[in-house]
Amino acid sequence: MSTEKIKNKKYLIITFGCQMNEHDSERIAGILENNGYNPVQDINEADLIIINTCCVRETAENKVYGLLGRLGKIKKNKPDLIIGVGGCMSQQEHVGKRLKQRFPYVDVVFGTFNLHTLGDLLTRARETKQQVIDVWQEAGMEECDFTVKRVPGVRAWVNIMLGCNNFCTYCIVPYVRGRERSRSQETIINEITKLGQEGYKDITLLGQNVNSFGKDIKGGIDFADLLTRVNSIDSVDRIRYMTSHPRDFNDKLIVTIAGLSKVCEHIHLPVQAGSNKILKKMNRGYSREDYFNLVARIRAAIPDVSLTTDVMVGFPGETDADFRDTFELMQEIKFDSAFTFVYNKREGTPAAKMEEQIPDEVKSKRIQEIIQLQNQISLGKNKLDVGKVLECLVEGPSKTNSELLSARTRTNKIVVFKGEKDVIGKILPLKITGYSLTHLEGEGNAL
Ligand code: SAM
Ligand code: SF4
Ligand code: F3S
Repeated sequence: MSTEKIKNKKYLIITFGCQMNEHDSERIAGILENNGYNPVQDINEADLIIINTCCVRETAENKVYGLLGRLGKIKKNKPDLIIGVGGCMSQQEHVGKRLKQRFPYVDVVFGTFNLHTLGDLLTRARETKQQVIDVWQEAGMEECDFTVKRVPGVRAWVNIMLGCNNFCTYCIVPYVRGRERSRSQETIINEITKLGQEGYKDITLLGQNVNSFGKDIKGGIDFADLLTRVNSIDSVDRIRYMTSHPRDFNDKLIVTIAGLSKVCEHIHLPVQAGSNKILKKMNRGYSREDYFNLVARIRAAIPDVSLTTDVMVGFPGETDADFRDTFELMQEIKFDSAFTFVYNKREGTPAAKMEEQIPDEVKSKRIQEIIQLQNQISLGKNKLDVGKVLECLVEGPSKTNSELLSARTRTNKIVVFKGEKDVIGKILPLKITGYSLTHLEGEGNAL
């Protein structure tokens, strides 16, 4: 079908999962808008709905099946509605089969490696009126290098690498995202320069393990060198990155980050567990002692750094003593915040076949303990900011109170404050006057 005929058609993308997927949805939006579609917020108004899926835990998959059931009902009254399913979940072979059997009204199924072919797949589905399932098994770089329709604002994500080689034994990501592939530094630098000129001032470099950047390029630069180059781009003010793997965080990187003015004082450093036995079974490649040592070196070099983490409870074989090790590590390190996860069996990963799977009630008790501890710590950390004057980038109206503006500190904390809309996009000193678990409160005219 020509672009002409698609005019006035509206699309909606529903995204599950991590920043990587959020950013992929911006690519999908780019493809759809190039094909003549316009965005819409209301599901009932959409002519095309794309679900960008995640499979990191079973709950994410179940949400997609539930949503597909609801979309089936909408499609009964609106037979021309086109439904597409892409992302990590559809990259798995058994999911394609299940979608074919149980959801025949899904028009297009595509994977993470052939997101760029979506325009053609939609045309095929429309012309043949048949379900089109096309999931590539080979990864390339094509999924990266084409038009992106970014969410407007001051923050933007930029992929610096795709895939993961780490094979943590619980994790499905390497199976659905392929091996590590770094983008060329020129492509990255050009993209960031342009983003800065368009008004995106706070750039997050994305990868499952950004510290591995460049390892697959012969004679290439490493992540610390890339940060140095990005830091010299005049059009942007702030640089962030995620995720860093503790095993690959070397002293060169610490010294580089400490010395670069635009690289923000926030490091997301997933620890996953505090017990050496569990870390080994997870194949994380560092010990509890290595992690403490790394945190000490980071804190010595970057005194005001904010540290956040991912932590998991209930991994197979986790005894009460192993759990205590995790709990005590968190008590001691005092992360600014943490994403807490209950281990979930993922078909095809080594941990799914491990003995001593932990009963749900034990997992549930442990996660409650961890959440409670972390909430206390986060609150205490936020309280320490009261009275300080912090450099904040104003992002827009607050999501919870439209009378207020929302800004972000270099340490990645949200500050809400009263201000005029013309300061959006500017960096302001804000005096911190209050705090809660989720954000800080501030006032302008701090200097
Ligand atoms: N690449 C990042 C890293 O190495 O930490 C994180 C990627 S993963 C998408 C985000 C988080 O999901 C992980 O840090 C881990 O804590 C959690 N996760 C991954 N697999 C899981 C599983 N099977 N069950 C529970 N949580 C899981
Ligand atoms: Fe998954 Fe580990 Fe890779 Fe992170 S580093 S994506 S947790 S395999
Ligand atoms: Fe992200 Fe989920 Fe895929 S966490 S990489 S969208 S499996």
